[in-house]
Amino acid sequence: MEKFTDKLNIDFGNRAKLLIPGGAHTYSKGDDQFPANAPKIIDRGLGCKLWDVDGNQFTDMAMSLGSVILGHAYEPVLKAVRKEIKRGVNFCRPSVIEGELAEILVDIIPSAEMVKFGKNGSDAVTAAIKLARAYTGRKFIARCSSDPFNAIHDWFIGSTIMNRGVPEEIQHLTIKFNYNDIESCEKLFDLYPDQIACFIFEPVSFEAPKDNFLQKLKALCEKNGTLLIFDEVVSGFRFALGGVQEIVGVIPHLAAFGKAMANGFSVSALVGQREFMRLGGIDHDQERVFLLSTTHGGETHCLAASIACINEIRKHDIIKHFWQTGQALINGVLSAAKEVDAEKYIDAFGYGVKPAFIFKDETGQVSMVARTLFMQETIAQGLLMPYVVPSYAHKKETINFAIECVRNALIIMKKAAEGKGMAAAIEGNIVKPVFRKHN
Ligand SMILES: Cc1ncc(COP(=O)(O)O)c(C=O)c1O
Repeated sequence: MEKFTDKLNIDFGNRAKLLIPGGAHTYSKGDDQFPANAPKIIDRGLGCKLWDVDGNQFTDMAMSLGSVILGHAYEPVLKAVRKEIKRGVNFCRPSVIEGELAEILVDIIPSAEMVKFGKNGSDAVTAAIKLARAYTGRKFIARCSSDPFNAIHDWFIGSTIMNRGVPEEIQHLTIKFNYNDIESCEKLFDLYPDQIACFIFEPVSFEAPKDNFLQKLKALCEKNGTLLIFDEVVSGFRFALGGVQEIVGVIPHLAAFGKAMANGFSVSALVGQREFMRLGGIDHDQERVFLLSTTHGGETHCLAASIACINEIRKHDIIKHFWQTGQALINGVLSAAKEVDAEKYIDAFGYGVKPAFIFKDETGQVSMVARTLFMQETIAQGLLMPYVVPSYAHKKETINFAIECVRNALIIMKKAAEGKGMAAAIEGNIVKPVFRKHN
């Protein structure tokens, strides 16, 4: 049967865009996030290398939104997956491996007394919220104003600028506090007494907790009968195996993990204290709570990937590798910027495990124009660096290559800034933030 796209004389990438809203399955992968010379469609990956369908090779610094922490097509994980696939991937009763991984997580994650698996971070975060609402019988969710993302679901999306399709009644139930600002948290308790089900946030994003913020917030939550939930979807298996909670010693009531736990295979986990988690079970006499329940939740090969991934992290001390690799990149980028007298166009900060980069234009403002030009000029050298998530596949030579590409890009950015302006040096569109009202 002829498809409607067959009539169009356009390439594969553009045909896919007609069939897939946004042309991709994560907004951060969309054409509006990359300059015109970026690879359009990826063919395959190995280690930290990617090849597009035209055969161009790139060094990947983004590692699949932070999920591929060991490297693309990492053999020890693939071996575990192959072994499991041959035994069948899903059954009508639980499989052995569900209990195996649950046991490992309970051992690793301080707050984990019970575990429930999902397929993505949003599932786990939103399940935690559901449980908090059920346990407390309250409606309001307090989220952190500076967290860029917590979940695809209405409680979070309704609190962003892109809230079309989320009923106002739902939007109003999510309220915001500021990180490291305990007074902003106290204020919410004053405004919504006995009405806040939980505080949910990334325990560390780019800012370090100050003045015992996490300890104070936990005490405040407990005083008010509110649950403390850590979104460790990014920080888990990255800052430490057991997440930020392992480092700071503040144990949340519930926590969500995802991204890095299975080297790109689809696994997430809601974990938490038994008192709350057991409400989703079948062995209590209270009113029932519909927690996570999905057809693919216990897919065996993904859980096998997670076990293999955790084994590799332990075997090779990979968390230490993340801290060192990211810090080497931050330091290298800052000195390269100094060498070429372009410090005013870039800043590198954050943690070794989670470095951050911002780009400034000729006016000194953080700018999408500067970001686009940076990406255009690094991509022209074969470096794909929309953001950086350190991986075990990033070795010393990868970091040296990245620093060299950044240095060359900065020379061009400076030249443009001092000449006709950065915008004039861009071929194609300027990248845009994902969260915006209109295209
Ligand atoms: C902090 C944080 N929480 C939750 C999520 C949602 O995870 P997922 O995309 O797997 O649903 C993300 C995704 O980027 C995230 O960054």
